[in-house]
Amino acid sequence: MRACLPEGIAAGKPAAIDNRQPRATIAAVDRPLLIAWHSRTGAAEAMARAAAAGAGDRGRLLRADLVTPEDLLAASGYLFVCPENLAAMSGLMKEMFDRCYYSVLGRIEGRPYAALIAAGSDGQGAQRQIDRIATGWRLKRVAEPIIVNLAAQTPEAIQARKTVPAVELTKCRALGAALDEGIALGVF
Ligand SMILES: Cc1cc2nc3c(=O)[nH]c(=O)nc-3n(C[C@H](O)[C@H](O)[C@H](O)COP(=O)(O)O)c2cc1C
Repeated sequence: MRACLPEGIAAGKPAAIDNRQPRATIAAVDRPLLIAWHSRTGAAEAMARAAAAGAGDRGRLLRADLVTPEDLLAASGYLFVCPENLAAMSGLMKEMFDRCYYSVLGRIEGRPYAALIAAGSDGQGAQRQIDRIATGWRLKRVAEPIIVNLAAQTPEAIQARKTVPAVELTKCRALGAALDEGIALGVF
């Protein structure tokens, strides 16, 4: 049954990773902005929902554990939204990148992205990690990150449900709207 096997396997070699671009059947302007999020105590979720409201019909909110490589391939751009936990992006957000990284490598190059980080006092560690991974994917960062520090310091405050100030949600909404507009105009 050699003829049925993918190239490489018949010869006993591992199959090559297929890094070709998907056939462009749907123009970028018609594809969603994927808003991939994770939140432990509600702050990043509120930020993601505000950004989705700004992005209108284009916004596609998806919790990080539900994001598949197909979702990433189908998007015109990305908004990554998560809290900083222990100086890094939250574990579930990282798991999404780990799970999808090689399946889309070389197939989403040049697409726009931005990040929203919920933090207690810092947020830079999570932001840097996302930027490094996005650089690996050759994505294009098209906006400054929005880091919202909620100043929770005690274990009780850190683990409590969060309320994000309206002024910060307005910024997240504006970023969602800007990404939508940039994609619609084809400026990225
Ligand atoms: C286990 C844990 C670790 C945290 N580590 C950090 C940290 O390293 N830096 C920081 O700025 N905030 C840290 N925080 C605070 C959260 O980032 C902050 O409360 C954020 O608003 C939570 O977002 P969320 O409500 O979307 O989960 C930590 C919170 C938890 C629960």
